Amino acid sequence: MKKPFVMGILLALGVMGGMSQVYAADQVKSLRGASDLDAPSNKVVIKKIQQGREPIERDYVQQPPLIPHKIAGYKINLKVNKCLTCHSWANYKEAGATKISQTHFSDREMSVHANVAARRYFCTQCHVPQADTKPLVENTFQPVETIRR
Ligand code: HEC
Ligand code: HEC
Repeated sequence: MKKPFVMGILLALGVMGGMSQVYAADQVKSLRGASDLDAPSNKVVIKKIQQGREPIERDYVQQPPLIPHKIAGYKINLKVNKCLTCHSWANYKEAGATKISQTHFSDREMSVHANVAARRYFCTQCHVPQADTKPLVENTFQPVETIRR
């Protein structure tokens, strides 16, 4: 094949690829269904929290562990952080809870603070209660064997 011909095919494929992407973007529906971003969600599915079940094993080292207990009514705001009444280093022993790990004291410049870093203060940004749910998207992820927990 001559070079310009190959280039032509590649170009055509590229343009087609681009077009199909635009098309796909039109088709994408969020998990709460097709509603405007500022409209209330029209698809609220309440998941059943699993009470008293062993913590679900983490799939990879840096995964925030799931919460194996109810958190309804646990406040996290400027004044109080209910989670820390059990998970802080001062309180974890008495509560029989896991203490927050050292990473929770480092800010984004990696300076270590005496208190929980601001970026780790709102626990439920990363930790969610565990529930029996189907995976949202298919996933074939496998953790690296040697650093499996
Ligand atoms: C009344 C005490 C208490 C409060 C408040 C509390 N927890 Fe816990 N939490 C525990 C105990 C005890 C465990 C470990 C026992 C278990 O497996 O249920 C635990 C387990 C966890 C784990 C699993 C840790 C691991 O190693 O797998 C996470 C994550 C967690 N809690 C997050 C939270 C978050 C986030 C909040 C606030 C929204 C919170 N907890 C509030 C007592 C508490
Ligand atoms: C920005 C995301 C993020 C926030 C916010 C966050 N965590 Fe974590 N947490 C993680 C990750 C990631 C891990 C696992 C790796 C690690 O220890 O850093 C973890 C681990 C933990 C563990 C297990 C520690 C261990 O030694 O196994 C507990 C308990 C926990 N977090 C509780 C909390 C509580 C309570 C808060 C709120 C004060 C909080 N986390 C806020 C991401 C977060």
